[in-house]
Amino acid sequence: MTESGGRLRDRRIALGITGSIAAYKAIELMRMLQNEGADVRVLMTTSAVEFIGTLTLETLSRHPVDSDVLSLGGDGRIGHIAAAHDVEAIVVAPATAHWLGAMANGLAGDSVTAACLATSVPVVVAPAMDGGMYTHPATQANVARLREFGYRIVEPESGVLASGMVGRGRLADLGRIVDATVEALTGEPAPIAAVQPAWTGRPAADSVAAPSADSISSSTLPSRSDLAGYHVVVTAGGTAEPIDPVRFVGNRSTGKMGIAVAEDALDRGAAVTLILGSVSVAPPARAHVARAETAAEMQAALRALTPPEGPRFDVLVMAAAVADFRPRSPSEKKIGRSAGLTVEMDPTPDLLAETAGRVRTGIRASGTRRPVLVGFAAETGSFERVADKLRSKGVDLLVANDVADPGSGFGTDTNKVTIYAIDTPPEELPLLSKREVAELLLDRVAVRLAARASGAGSGVVSGAASAETGAADETEPAEVSE
Ligand code: CTP
Repeated sequence: MTESGGRLRDRRIALGITGSIAAYKAIELMRMLQNEGADVRVLMTTSAVEFIGTLTLETLSRHPVDSDVLSLGGDGRIGHIAAAHDVEAIVVAPATAHWLGAMANGLAGDSVTAACLATSVPVVVAPAMDGGMYTHPATQANVARLREFGYRIVEPESGVLASGMVGRGRLADLGRIVDATVEALTGEPAPIAAVQPAWTGRPAADSVAAPSADSISSSTLPSRSDLAGYHVVVTAGGTAEPIDPVRFVGNRSTGKMGIAVAEDALDRGAAVTLILGSVSVAPPARAHVARAETAAEMQAALRALTPPEGPRFDVLVMAAAVADFRPRSPSEKKIGRSAGLTVEMDPTPDLLAETAGRVRTGIRASGTRRPVLVGFAAETGSFERVADKLRSKGVDLLVANDVADPGSGFGTDTNKVTIYAIDTPPEELPLLSKREVAELLLDRVAVRLAARASGAGSGVVSGAASAETGAADETEPAEVSE
């Protein structure tokens, strides 16, 4: 469990998720509550389970999910009753129109409503729905009834909804929901701005230092919590491309550099997803780890994070050593040694260039802020190809190292790098530990994020919706009734 914020340290919280497509945001909300130190267990309606399943939530919360109002816990107690008595607050997010109606009328047909009925702890409710549903008198009456119960309502926001209409119904900024939870538990207004939602939100322009784009190489270094609220994706380690079920084509990457980046990002408050090939060091427990053995698996993981509606991260650091070649026709059976072996190989796709392209398409369509993209360049002898690689891959920063240099090779704990940027001269750094390199790299990333949050530089790509309506970063999907 991460504890970057600490405002909910050791608090036990139930997160109730109901059947809106916005349920996917509840995963990030859970991480943010954990980042504040909370122990979170999850209750879901059956529709919510259909949207996002239980496995991710069970894995990340380290508790079984209660989605069956009739289920018994491991100790034989009724699940929702146990939750109602064991936690110190219940947060229902997203809360659908249907759920608000059920709750207002005390209809305990699902675990979330049942736990709320059975509990005496504070309840925080964040509604989310499409169209005119939120403003309908029926919904408003239900919300008013919940207020009478003493529930804290985190009002939904206005913006472009999944239907394409502009209206009120987008799930509130996740930071506001965390703040409301802190307030519900302490009875005090939240003392500091909450960690911002990592996948969807960014710090408000006035809450971060806002250097201009051309001050990026200056000595104005951001503070150590400068990545709080950002989602940083790091790829690390080498991929292994099968020749047959036993042999593979791989490389000598150990993943140390990427893992050092992930560790530093976590220490600066970021939510981190690590996409790991083969590595020889343990990944940090606080990161969300996805395994990708082959280039194809890493490609799939990156594609999932760059859907057409916009990238699901604020920073990508592509430190993985993706195999450059893969066997054209891997054998399904082990190839016998006696016949000798000639393997025909194809180049793998350039995952970084492809991801940068998908990011461009996504932000053009959605108007979301441009993430910072970082690549590594493994060179031998000279860096003459690096400036071209920077451009062809479409990244902001490219970290070049000479892998033939004894202090910079695979498996060492040190690295000697030169950081190339699209808009500033290359910076040659001395021989440093990989952690120090990670720190200096993320300093530069943080300055760029801050510049983009302030609207400086080329961070915001205007999309039709956001430019014309002033709507927030993403559209809110429609509710599906339960
Ligand atoms: N990379 C990638 N997909 C590949 C190969 C590399 O995304 N198939 C990424 C690496 O993770 C790294 C960057 O591209 O961030 C540069 O990798 P490098 O091996 O230096 O360059 P290549 O593109 O492989 O070019 P070359 O092999 O000609 O040096």
